[in-house]
Amino acid sequence: MPKLSVRSLPVRDRRVFVRVDFNVPLGENGVITDDTRIRSALPTIQYLLEQGATVILGSHLGKPKGKPDPKYSLRAVAEYLKQILNGNLHFTPDCIGIDVVRFLQRVPPNSVILLENLRFHPGEEKNDPDFARALATLGDFYVNDAFGTAHRAHASTAGMTIFFAQPAAGFLVEKELQYLEPLLQTPVRPFLVIIGGAKVADKAGVIKNLLPRVDHLLLGGAVAFSFLKARGLPIGKSRWEPELLAEVEKLKDNPKLVLPVDVVTAANPDGAGTRIVPVEQIGNDEAGFDIGPRTIEIFCDLIATARTIVWAGPMGIFENQAFSHGSVAIARALAQATVRGAITIAGGGDTGAALKQAGMADRISHLSTGGSATLEFLEGRNLPGIAALTDVP
Ligand code: 3PG
Repeated sequence: MPKLSVRSLPVRDRRVFVRVDFNVPLGENGVITDDTRIRSALPTIQYLLEQGATVILGSHLGKPKGKPDPKYSLRAVAEYLKQILNGNLHFTPDCIGIDVVRFLQRVPPNSVILLENLRFHPGEEKNDPDFARALATLGDFYVNDAFGTAHRAHASTAGMTIFFAQPAAGFLVEKELQYLEPLLQTPVRPFLVIIGGAKVADKAGVIKNLLPRVDHLLLGGAVAFSFLKARGLPIGKSRWEPELLAEVEKLKDNPKLVLPVDVVTAANPDGAGTRIVPVEQIGNDEAGFDIGPRTIEIFCDLIATARTIVWAGPMGIFENQAFSHGSVAIARALAQATVRGAITIAGGGDTGAALKQAGMADRISHLSTGGSATLEFLEGRNLPGIAALTDVP
């Protein structure tokens, strides 16, 4: 069901709490290495400013485990955003409490305020009602524009919404749903999903739930090795998930699954002494860090005939040139598919970075800010952050 839009809220001279997802990658020196998620939230922020509202932004960054940790401070994001907003950005060193309330009383109307990392309080991830209420007191209206975090039932995405009569969707959430919803109902077929990436643990369930919906499911990245292992192949030191073996065993022979037939291996990820080997011949002392050329060919042939393609997770450690060929080839194949009219959607920070590295980020239909959120949505699951928003008939 469609969700109430931020456009419907009478926000002039009011405070609007906007849950954004500024969980951006930071380099070793704390520099933001990809600002996609910040820029994606700008249309909502700018709209609210134009309407005369005061905008209070709440976000998490990383996993600070419920206590303040300078490594996960949003201060760097605040400085970055301040430049984009021509100085109209105030940063509060906490997200709840009397000091924050007083701070909000002092700032001029029509300002933007970024709260410090919501996960510096344990109540955020626990969806604690008291923490949710404390957050809710900061705003007259609530808007969720954090699509990347919509799969989490946390205080700022779920708990605090009950304190508002009409929690609404921001423009980013609307745009994401506009691309993803048709894929749930009536995807134009053949519908192909490519899953890769380093996070293995959360992928088995996703694969299981997606298989009945798709025509082909291509696996690369670390997740492929758990499946190769389950098929009894030697995977050397490649990353895999022993705890998932029972689950993977049940899925491994599904005819819709397409696994790598060759990989690029090395003794370690620095890329020295790489070999291209069939998956049957991975040595005991090496690990696979990218898909091989034959696999690229098979994957690209399938992409060439698909009409809806979703890509989540790189094919290897693409940051290292030696292991970037698989991801670059998939990025190019998606761009070509877009030109011939296919709907192409990529999700997640690493996938976006791989597309940018290949120079293809603006040549696909939609670069989603959600990784896990996008996949969970496509599984047909209810995302708590979306479910909490007001339905409109
Ligand atoms: C993400 O990057 O996937 C979202 O920001 C959610 O982050 P999380 O996995 O730490 O909850």
